Amino acid sequence: MDKKLNIDLQKTPKHVAIIMDGNGRWAKGKGMNRIFGHRNALTAVRECVKSASQVNVKAITLYAFSTENWNRPKLEVDALMSLLINSLKKELPEFMNQGVQVNSIGCLDSLPNKAQKVLKDVILETKNNKEIVLTFALSYGAREEIVNAIKNISKKVVNKELNLEKIDENTINNHLYTFNLPDVDLMIRTSGEQRISNFLLWQMAYAELYFTDVLWPDFRQEHFYDAIIEYQNRERRFGKTSEQITE
Ligand code: FPP
Repeated sequence: MDKKLNIDLQKTPKHVAIIMDGNGRWAKGKGMNRIFGHRNALTAVRECVKSASQVNVKAITLYAFSTENWNRPKLEVDALMSLLINSLKKELPEFMNQGVQVNSIGCLDSLPNKAQKVLKDVILETKNNKEIVLTFALSYGAREEIVNAIKNISKKVVNKELNLEKIDENTINNHLYTFNLPDVDLMIRTSGEQRISNFLLWQMAYAELYFTDVLWPDFRQEHFYDAIIEYQNRERRFGKTSEQITE
């Protein structure tokens, strides 16, 4: 049966964040190297974006490369950067076709120049697309993001552009990489690991967390919709009582 029929299109999460884990194990299971796993991750990325768009999800954020991933073997880091460059170029027509607006968060200055350029070009090219915002977290770490926000806010206080007493949650939101995105409603992590791994710590304050054993290269539309259905079956209380929510 088409799982989409079980989804209430009025109640889909607006922002889904995904930790795409398990590429290495998937490849190992096939007797191949880790890079083979990363290459085969792209089908899952395409399928997720398409599936999300079909059920009214307005933003998807993918943890594509963490600040800690720089510590991987150089061969793997280089392969991931090449994959990023080539796939962004290759997917551009499809992004245009599907109304995908590409965005990125993270310390982008630390990416190779070529990756920065392709990313900037694709972001510019897709900026008027309206169906869904696809954000790549690249050289991203949530603690670093929060430290940067604190530094920038502090500078404004020191320069008297901002009154200390006026700092509130919106001030923090506006100084994060994600200033133009809504809070995360649903976070999906594949491969059976149950951790947040320094991903969108502030933005996930009230997110529903969904963990699946499926390895990322095997993740398909049916798995994405399973996560959405599970999300819709949960009661999001935001600190209130169950009675208050159902009233
Ligand atoms: C985690 O699997 C995956 C990554 C660290 C990289 C994610 C990158 C992709 C999905 C490639 C496609 C994305 C773009 C933007 C081109 P892992 O290597 O940690 O797997 P393991 O835990 O099984 O070793």
